[in-house]
Amino acid sequence: MTNDTNVTWHEHQVARSDREAMKGHKGCVVWFTGLSGSGKSTLANTLDHRLHGHRLHSAVLDGDNVRHALNASPSMLRSVHGDDFAERFGLGFSAIDREENIRRIGAVAQLFSQAGIIALTAFISPYRQDRDRVRATMAPGEFIEVFVDTPIEICEQRDPKGLYKKARAGEIKGFTGIDDPYEQPLSPELTLYAGQKSPGELVDEVIQYLQEREIVRL
Ligand code: ADX
Repeated sequence: MTNDTNVTWHEHQVARSDREAMKGHKGCVVWFTGLSGSGKSTLANTLDHRLHGHRLHSAVLDGDNVRHALNASPSMLRSVHGDDFAERFGLGFSAIDREENIRRIGAVAQLFSQAGIIALTAFISPYRQDRDRVRATMAPGEFIEVFVDTPIEICEQRDPKGLYKKARAGEIKGFTGIDDPYEQPLSPELTLYAGQKSPGELVDEVIQYLQEREIVRL
């Protein structure tokens, strides 16, 4: 067992408020959560584009992309790092792997936010406890949970990656919404009805929230 206690926390010289003053907006985490196919990535990217157009500094962390690098699967890691490493650090979709996926992303999103960036995350993040743990690491008002509330029937109809079809056929086990739970947020900062409105309209709702909370000024 290695000694993992000799790690000290460094106080940084540049204060968060200094960075925010430089950028003219606050750092925060806009955490989109919802079923696969609910529209999280589309909304995060549409919002990113809109914020960028206003010369605000945002960045997207997206489930499918992050699972190719930081949170790669065991099979992706195996060829470079070997079996033991891949089994230990690679992530799949078991409850504990999803927990670690969300923990790592929460930590990365917080670093972005502390650097003064508006971090936009798009992960199913199906378990309430995992999302609440991320929230608990952040300052009040820093974590903005956005529930992308799209009925599963619509997600399944869209099925952009054909995964619902595979899950129904039993080819994917433990698929969120089919044979693995999605726990809705109980009191999200925002709920977006993505089956009823266009991405542009929904992004307006998020921007309005960011303005009301004085995170951004347009
Ligand atoms: S999370 O549950 O850990 O938050 P994440 O958002 O990173 O999931 O990845 C979800 C994406 O992985 C889905 O949009 C889908 O493309 C793919 N995926 C593969 N297997 C599963 C599964 N068993 N359940 C949900 N999504 C899956």
